[in-house]
Amino acid sequence: MAREKTIFFCKECGTEYPKWLGQCPACKSWDSLVEAPKTKAPSGRTSADPFRRQSATPVTLREVPVQEEPRTTTRMEELDRVLGGGIVAGSLVLTSGDPGIGKSTLLLQMCRNLAEGGTKVLYVSGEESLTQIKLRAMRIGECGENLLFLSETDLGIISEQILSVRPQVVIIDSVQTMMMPDSSGAPGGPMQIREITAYLMRIAKEESITVFLVGHVTKDGMVAGPKMLEHMVDTVLYFEGDSTTSYRILRAVKNRFGSTNEIGVFEMRGDGLQEVLNPSEHMLRGMPEGEPGSVVAVTMEGTRPLLVEVQALVCKTTFSQPRRTTAGTDLNRLNLLTAVMQRRTGVEVSQCDTYVNIAGGMRVTEPALDLPIILALWSSYRNKPLEPHTVAFGEVGLTGELRSVTQPLLRVREAMKLGYRACILSQSDCESIRDKVPSDVKLYGLRNIGELKK
Ligand code: TYD
Ligand code: MG
Repeated sequence: MAREKTIFFCKECGTEYPKWLGQCPACKSWDSLVEAPKTKAPSGRTSADPFRRQSATPVTLREVPVQEEPRTTTRMEELDRVLGGGIVAGSLVLTSGDPGIGKSTLLLQMCRNLAEGGTKVLYVSGEESLTQIKLRAMRIGECGENLLFLSETDLGIISEQILSVRPQVVIIDSVQTMMMPDSSGAPGGPMQIREITAYLMRIAKEESITVFLVGHVTKDGMVAGPKMLEHMVDTVLYFEGDSTTSYRILRAVKNRFGSTNEIGVFEMRGDGLQEVLNPSEHMLRGMPEGEPGSVVAVTMEGTRPLLVEVQALVCKTTFSQPRRTTAGTDLNRLNLLTAVMQRRTGVEVSQCDTYVNIAGGMRVTEPALDLPIILALWSSYRNKPLEPHTVAFGEVGLTGELRSVTQPLLRVREAMKLGYRACILSQSDCESIRDKVPSDVKLYGLRNIGELKK
């Protein structure tokens, strides 16, 4: 008997290999290859396939009808923005995030809003019973006629129901719990997850149904990470947040119908997720006034400026090697900035422990945070606060020079809206926006951080 052909998949990135390797050469993750039976080359669609297309002939682009993609609003401004202005018919959206972060809650709230607006929605859960869904829905509020629920894991049954109910939006919660009938792979395994996603993609495209797919990310122990699905779907949303705070951030990491880098901010309350329309105010809530080591930075999240508090603590080390830690930003960047600072300002930080924290649970890695971090370190070292009502932003190079950043005017305007009256920035940004801001707003342009000595 011929040996059954098998193939190895990387469960992180989905790359295929003919033999097992300890490290995936594509994504460099260790011990991520799993064995799966080799599938035959797709032999067209079987007759049992309800989504069979009639013909496939090549066409020129001129023959392709262009329609402006109609968008349906989810009635949640934050979610709409991340999606690129509402949901697009026929798109496949992957929503992933840690367990318990609020994916099901977010999607249920979205479904409820869509249904209220007259869109027919089918919510398929393979994780929870109808009773559990009802309990969650009761916390959020009344669900109307247009929102149907199905607790099922068999994709064959689900696709039959999709064809009979004909919803405009379908939620599949989650891809890991779904089962593909007559699939050779193990349920929840990389083969099945791929097949399921490809199948749902076809449903989405051919029936013009928007499909939201939920995928879990766990540190390890999961057979197939949603990472490998990312290239298959139209949009990838990540829902993230610090488990100690109630803030949740929705990020688009891929979007065929909009820009990435946009974020939506939500707060998890007792009655579901609440949109945070002015995140800067929330991020700065409870910020100490006039304390050394605290600086307000203006970062950009997509098209939106966001004010965050950068805190630093510098103190003489009691260890043989000084300690440096960061929360919410990059440690390597801090190491680099302290070195630049020591060289250019003469402040002896190399013999000090330095701690940097972005308050509010945000994670910011934008280079515009360089100057605020240096100012916070400087202020903590000298034990002197910055002038009150001051914000800062700017990238710092290795020679200590300050470089311009994107959208300086937008950043200053956002800070002014929240009552800030002074801004420390690079000289070049300062010159470019000086005549566009009111004269009572003080702009301090710096060329090099060496000027901080004075
Ligand atoms: P859930 O949407 O089930 O998470 P996921 O689908 O990502 O696994 O949300 C889980 C958490 O959210 C749970 O710990 C309870 C909390 N929660 C609230 O705090 N308020 C609410 O109104 C709801 C519905 C959930
Ligand atoms: Mg869930």
